[in-house]
Amino acid sequence: MPQTIPYPGFGFDILHRDPASRARVGRLTTPHGTIETPNFIFCGTKASVKGVTPAQLREERTDIILSNTYHLMIQPGAETVARLGGLHRFMGWDGPMLTDSGGYQIFAMGHGSVADEIKGRRSQVREKTLLRISEEGAEFRSYTNGEKLFLTPERSVDIQRKLGADLVVQLDECTPYHVDRDYTARSMRMSHRWGDRSLAEFVRGGGLSANGLPQAMYGIVQGGVYPDLRRESAEYTADRPFFATAVGGSLGAHKDQMVEVVAMAMPHVHPDRPVHLLGIGGIVDIFAGVALGIDTFDCVSPTRIARHGWALMPGVPGERLNLRNARFREDADPIDPACDCHACRRFSRGYIHHLLKAGEMLALQLVSLHNIAVMNRLMREVREAIRTGTLDAARRRWVAPAATVKA
Ligand code: GUN
Ligand code: ZN
Repeated sequence: MPQTIPYPGFGFDILHRDPASRARVGRLTTPHGTIETPNFIFCGTKASVKGVTPAQLREERTDIILSNTYHLMIQPGAETVARLGGLHRFMGWDGPMLTDSGGYQIFAMGHGSVADEIKGRRSQVREKTLLRISEEGAEFRSYTNGEKLFLTPERSVDIQRKLGADLVVQLDECTPYHVDRDYTARSMRMSHRWGDRSLAEFVRGGGLSANGLPQAMYGIVQGGVYPDLRRESAEYTADRPFFATAVGGSLGAHKDQMVEVVAMAMPHVHPDRPVHLLGIGGIVDIFAGVALGIDTFDCVSPTRIARHGWALMPGVPGERLNLRNARFREDADPIDPACDCHACRRFSRGYIHHLLKAGEMLALQLVSLHNIAVMNRLMREVREAIRTGTLDAARRRWVAPAATVKA
């Protein structure tokens, strides 16, 4: 394996460091544009941020989105996406994009069942998603028809090359929470070997997508809740020619432990590379992660909770309101008078409450737009707060006092 990989068209510059924490403001450049960090990556799992068009994402000032190898390799298939011009063209998003490797979806969802995924539609299919893990790769079942599939590091990188996102991720095993130290250590070391195989396959493909555009690869830090393993894994990623680092795996049983686990890894990751925290994106978590030096986050929650009527709201308990609540029935105010999203400029809480009660699709779309706008505003305010040394004040504006006391 080469000592370095050039990653043409990519860059990461640290523009400002917070003297009081590890927080930093950076600029991450990709062939589809530059984003400022810290930033939030919205989940477009199946090549769609549910219910929201790319133009609407942009209107709410979204910079970057992600999609998933696991879902797209099954439906419609990476070859189909490639023949339709790659993910950017396929879904009409022209900005920076990341694809996850399938590691999480196979392993973490693997402990649920295929039937959970496809709900009543094919209730006869009851097998687990994950069938068998070996050094070679993972055997799992398709969430659409239960067919047996096999994913190796090489196949994951090849699929991600066909999908053509800017940022790609090595295949790993997302180590579950309930396993012991011995399993965690063996799983982590296998993920490291899979990282080496992912890099070798990336280099073999010339570091280019099927469209001929350069891509850049993330290595993943595993190691469960064990400080020495987290350190070993962070050092593994730093010693390899990855473009960037992602922190994954079990991050503990509760929020405080998440912070502890991320803190175990951060002093040992490569200091000049962007660091992504996989699957974490609550407002409280973002303030904690940023202070530990995390540059990007992703989480399904802002768009998932929107579909249940929850609107993100700074400073209230849980940082969210449920618009299904009867108290909003005749409320003429926007969701948040301080928000400039499309939903808050045009519609009242009472109207959105009605749409939710009536089961109208527009409700889900409007609350999603609001939550997307809130996350993007949060990240702009976080960057500004790092620049001005006011992160604590920003946290107090966003996080309700009760939660501050508990945390
Ligand atoms: N998403 C959330 N956690 C993980 C992880 O450990 N690995 C990968 N690949 N994706 C994730
Ligand atoms: Zn709004």
